[in-house]
Amino acid sequence: MSQKRSLTNRQLFLEFYDSKLEEGKEVTLEGWIRANRDNGNVGFIAFNDGSYFKNTQIVYDGNNKDYEQYAHLKYGAAIQVTGTIKLTPEAKQPFEIHATNITLLGDCSEDYPLQKKRHSYEFLRDIAYLRPRANTFNAVFRIRNTLAYAIHRYFQERGFMYVHTPLITANDAEGAGQVFHVIADPKHPTDFFNANACLTVSGQLHVESFALAFRDVYTFGPTFRAENSNTTRHASEFWMIEPEIAFADLEDDMDLIESFLKYIIKYVLDNCKDEMEFCNTFLEKGVIDKLNHVLNTTFRRMTYTEGIELLQKAVKGGHKFENNDIYWGMDLQSEHERYLTEQVVKGPVFLTDYPKEIKAFYMKLNPDNKTVAACDLLVPSEGEIVGGSQREEDYEKLIAKMKELGNDKGLDWYLNLRKYGGCKHAGFGLGFDRLLMYITGIQNIRDVQPYPRTPGSLKY
Ligand code: 4AD
Ligand code: MG
Repeated sequence: MSQKRSLTNRQLFLEFYDSKLEEGKEVTLEGWIRANRDNGNVGFIAFNDGSYFKNTQIVYDGNNKDYEQYAHLKYGAAIQVTGTIKLTPEAKQPFEIHATNITLLGDCSEDYPLQKKRHSYEFLRDIAYLRPRANTFNAVFRIRNTLAYAIHRYFQERGFMYVHTPLITANDAEGAGQVFHVIADPKHPTDFFNANACLTVSGQLHVESFALAFRDVYTFGPTFRAENSNTTRHASEFWMIEPEIAFADLEDDMDLIESFLKYIIKYVLDNCKDEMEFCNTFLEKGVIDKLNHVLNTTFRRMTYTEGIELLQKAVKGGHKFENNDIYWGMDLQSEHERYLTEQVVKGPVFLTDYPKEIKAFYMKLNPDNKTVAACDLLVPSEGEIVGGSQREEDYEKLIAKMKELGNDKGLDWYLNLRKYGGCKHAGFGLGFDRLLMYITGIQNIRDVQPYPRTPGSLKY
């Protein structure tokens, strides 16, 4: 028979909030020391076992025969505590544990890199295997977990089917050439699969085929891009949520994006209250108000053409962009996107109907023959977090476009979807890590990913 594991911090807090935590109840917990101070008569340990964001206060008495030993327990050490619950509704923490016994389970050596002080993000990145213990990362990774759960909840509650699209593929779904190659033997790169294998940049093409069988589907998994851009918003490996809906157009797609984003943001605000308070105080002042504002506004929809006109007007009015040469047909840079969402709209905005030349091959050509039925969702301080579109369902138009770009090899199956019961359909990709930055106020994508992979960096 297996021995029962100890209680958790989380269980105690949940019991407390349920008004079920009883004064005098004896408990045993196992966890780590976040702080230990004593004044000779009484000592206090800030204790956390990782199951809950908040610490539990352990009090040990000067009369305890092992007092001196307890007073020397080190920051970071793993301990087992047995004691009784004391309710302290007037104090900062709603209850504490009065220890009868503390056992050292794993000492923490003097050279522990994580100290009880503020460390720089760069330093913490370098000790990525320890940083989940730091408050900031404890909060961020908890929110990451809740956000992932909220995403599945939203779709599952609405009958969307979750599809596992492959990570190894022979297609460059975006046609942008930013793929990592998968090779078993460098001397014979195509031998293993008898194909040019690469890591997926997007699950979209595969998930489209499932939408044409199951109507509403989504994939949510890692994607990989060999973009050599060293920015705070680009990672070589990141997670993407890609829903695909059949019998739907771009308007339906934008309705879905808006409803989905509001749901998952609300879910995090409701279920990560302590973590979000922490973000609001230490990471981005006002982030909770910012998110509540998103919940309460209707996202603006504006065409790319209108966006360009507004940017040209801004330049005429004296606004200085790093790139001030604004013309119809240009690919917008982050500074332009941010101007529109931060200065003009002051909130989330969909930019739609982009010039066909600057968007991916699969997007539906509009009747003007110049633009495609695409939408990017831009948000303040972040820029683009979602890219979506209605897909080209016309076989002839799609094959012509793919041939023009030299991107028609190996994608017969994708084209055939247009022949065998094709229908209008649409979808989008939400950058999970970028959304997490937006929600927490973290400024660098490297600090929302457990083990970031970026150009020039592959530690751990
Ligand atoms: O705009 P993208 O390239 O769109 C697609 O991949 C489509 N296949 C999606 C679809 O329609 N199913 O990427 C979608 C989102 C971006 O808006 C951005 O949030 C994120 O993925 N993203 C990145 N996030 C982190 N690092 C990178 N290098 C990223 N590249 C894109
Ligand atoms: Mg995009």
